[in-house]
Amino acid sequence: MSDTATPTVIRREDYAPPAFLIDTVDLEFDLVPERTVVKSTLRVRRNPDATPAPHLELMGEQLEFIGAQIDGQAYENVRAHEHGLTVENVPDAFTLTLTGASNPEANTTLSGLYVSSSNFFTQCEAEGFRRITWFLDRPDVMSTYTVTLRADKTACPVLLSNGNLIEEGDLPDGRHYAKWEDPFRKPSYLFALVAGQLVALEERIKTGSGKEKLLQVWVEPHDLDKTRHAMDSLIHSIRWDERRFGLELDLDRFMIVAVSDFNMGAMENKGLNIFNTKYVLANPETATDVDFANIEAVVGHEYFHNWTGNRVTCRDWFQLSLKEGLTVFRDQEFSAAMSGGDENEAARATKRIEDVRVLRQMQFAEDAGPMAHPVRPESYVEINNFYTMTVYEKGAEVVRMYQTLFGRDGFRKGMDLYFQRHDGQAVTCDDFRRALADANGRDLAQFERWYSQAGTPRVTVTTQYDAAAQRYSVTLAQGYANGSPAARETQKGPLLIPFAIGLIGPDGADLPLKLEGEHEDQQRANTTASTTRVLELTEAQQTFTFVEVAQKPLPSLLRNFSAPVIVEYDYGNDELAFLLAHDSDPFNRWEAGQRLATRELLALAARAGARQPLEMNDALVQAFSRVLNDASLSPSFRELALMLPSETYLAEQMAESDPAAVHAARQFVRKGLATALKTEWLAAYDANLTPGAYEPTPEAAGHRGLKNLALAYLSELADPADAVRLASAQYAAANNMTDRAAALSALMNAAAGTGGDYAKQALADFYSRFEKEPLVIDKWFSLQATQRGTAQRPMIETVRTLMRHPAFNLKNPNRARSLIFSFCAANPAQFHAADGSGYAFWAEQVIALDAINPQVAARLARNLELWRRFTPALRDAMRAALEQVAAQAKSRDVREIVEKALA
Ligand code: TRP
Ligand code: ZN
Repeated sequence: MSDTATPTVIRREDYAPPAFLIDTVDLEFDLVPERTVVKSTLRVRRNPDATPAPHLELMGEQLEFIGAQIDGQAYENVRAHEHGLTVENVPDAFTLTLTGASNPEANTTLSGLYVSSSNFFTQCEAEGFRRITWFLDRPDVMSTYTVTLRADKTACPVLLSNGNLIEEGDLPDGRHYAKWEDPFRKPSYLFALVAGQLVALEERIKTGSGKEKLLQVWVEPHDLDKTRHAMDSLIHSIRWDERRFGLELDLDRFMIVAVSDFNMGAMENKGLNIFNTKYVLANPETATDVDFANIEAVVGHEYFHNWTGNRVTCRDWFQLSLKEGLTVFRDQEFSAAMSGGDENEAARATKRIEDVRVLRQMQFAEDAGPMAHPVRPESYVEINNFYTMTVYEKGAEVVRMYQTLFGRDGFRKGMDLYFQRHDGQAVTCDDFRRALADANGRDLAQFERWYSQAGTPRVTVTTQYDAAAQRYSVTLAQGYANGSPAARETQKGPLLIPFAIGLIGPDGADLPLKLEGEHEDQQRANTTASTTRVLELTEAQQTFTFVEVAQKPLPSLLRNFSAPVIVEYDYGNDELAFLLAHDSDPFNRWEAGQRLATRELLALAARAGARQPLEMNDALVQAFSRVLNDASLSPSFRELALMLPSETYLAEQMAESDPAAVHAARQFVRKGLATALKTEWLAAYDANLTPGAYEPTPEAAGHRGLKNLALAYLSELADPADAVRLASAQYAAANNMTDRAAALSALMNAAAGTGGDYAKQALADFYSRFEKEPLVIDKWFSLQATQRGTAQRPMIETVRTLMRHPAFNLKNPNRARSLIFSFCAANPAQFHAADGSGYAFWAEQVIALDAINPQVAARLARNLELWRRFTPALRDAMRAALEQVAAQAKSRDVREIVEKALA
């Protein structure tokens, strides 16, 4: 695209079936880093269900055209152009052979075929296949693939593609070949090849039906000692999908490959998942507990796509959430099961809390800005910009609501019907909803609005207790915040909101629930537990009345976060403290503490912004103290409950975001809690030590998490001697990365707070110890980029110095993220420095990345999209930076983001 062209908008309403279908694809690759030649033989026929077209229009990008044949004869009526190839006046059915070439070594976009550390990889979702060869590169064109790979045997001893290996052998001139066949029809975005010097951890297992399967985790040779956890995660995923959904692995061989240059987390290519090394490689010395958990989740996610995404795929990219929302829901349920079993609700709750925290911090923010879109978007300029929090995380919440409405068994019935109807097809979100509705005998027409309505719904709650009649009524009203993008666009009408509620008596115990006009059998049918009821809010406003309520209760609202909405209810501080101490719903217990802390932090931020003195709230200290000392709560729950809401989340709650004021307020409270509870933090540190060999179990990770949170609080003390002593010892003695990184972070924080230089030596030691471990060096960069700065020591200077470090490399997305994204997105107080230095740096880096890797550049570009919500001075500086990027960026990816932000 040239600088001035108006971008083409793709609209959902314009969907039309493809004019041609491609039944089989035969690909031959001659893999050479600077010029790879691809010969593609396609069996093409007219689509009986489409409007006839005389010419075949194939997509292609950055390809050199070599030649074309139809049915074995050279064909001259072919026109190669910027967007592809027009094959003119074709017959109704024919075999088309196309030969072309590309330059994988020069491909820094990491889309299509590229080289990383001298090995070949592909990334085809969403539209990368057209950078490999000309094709109908859209998900509703499904074909069976045969792939022959030829390459130098020394440079590329390993040759992999989708499906089964059917032939291999030597060729002249030191070359060799391998031929792969994928028995399942698939869209082009699921094609993959890998070639190079790799080794595999292998395991053979028997699946449910008794068939033997070969599992492999392929990595560079020096990483073989970091593959065990990924393999275990894969085996657990296979077992869980059989148990929970009756879904079995359908191929004889399943491969995972790790690559260090990768745009996102991982990719579900059929039988050949390709992963960012970050989500494969782990051993205790290099990976933290969080890394271990993320690997399990992402391995699960990609594996689960084999059914939800691959066997049943998307008709078009507007349906992306059909596979992503559903698969995120599945990986969330898998992780919850791995940490707490399928039934232990308290253990499952920590996973739920973590997921909701991400949703609220990231997806709610997306909904409040210029990129707000429904779970099923109506239009896009660049589809890569729509792999979003809304499509993934809100999409998962939408899927979860079916399960909340129908129960786990009803949800399973819906899934079974979905596969029965649609296996082997490319379908829509409506097809999924219909399967869930039909399997449960429900009309879900209204539920469709969850797919078509952007924005975060608000549910305002009012309650009334009539002591004489023993009636308690709850009125729920739904709508959108004034001025939000969702409120401005045409409303489609009220949503069906499953609203889980409990009532708590004065002794802290749940009250039995009975709704007015409800028969006992209905009561049983609707009830997940007798003390939680899922109300179905379907109108703009509705009142539900509980009867036989003997005492005035305290409502526990939206238990387990039963819908992705904002709840407004006027709790008093004492009521929140009561819920934090007693609610039987662990999610709402956590939620009460967060509400209490958020309220206090926002009040302090307002005072800080007005340069008024700050005072510590004793009620908050008491509430935190009770949680910290409550041995009936698991350490991982206590860790979550004692963590303050992030600066980013807090700033978003302000009428005008003021990052400096939020930082001052949050630091004040951290110091206040550190000081007031010093003895308790020290005791918690000692009580949660995990001596002996490292174990990545949820229990051990919970202890480490709480211990390291205690250390982090202690590092805030005016005299951090205790923290420095404990952290230094912990750093030196650590047998795992969780403890080592936490100790280093505490030392750095103590240093930032006091001007001491406790951390210098540890930072240097960390670097030299892990110089050969790129994923650990990423941590070294990001720990520094997210450091607390001071007026004397602004972090932008540290970041600019690190940009010149020999280990920094803008072309590697993980490295770019570890320094640039960490600073711009995870260090708000420093990034939003009043002098605009952060914004100038951001603009420079977006423009530099735009020329290398548009997908990564566009992610960074999104960092300023909420600019209108900041204080006036920051707002103006941000606009200037956005305008600078808009004037210089070339890619469709970045242009869509900055143009929407400025519109
Ligand atoms: N489908 C992948 C997933 O969610 C993500 C993905 C989409 C991706 N496009 C990509 C990964 C581009 C890497 C590069 O599992
Ligand atoms: Zn996915």
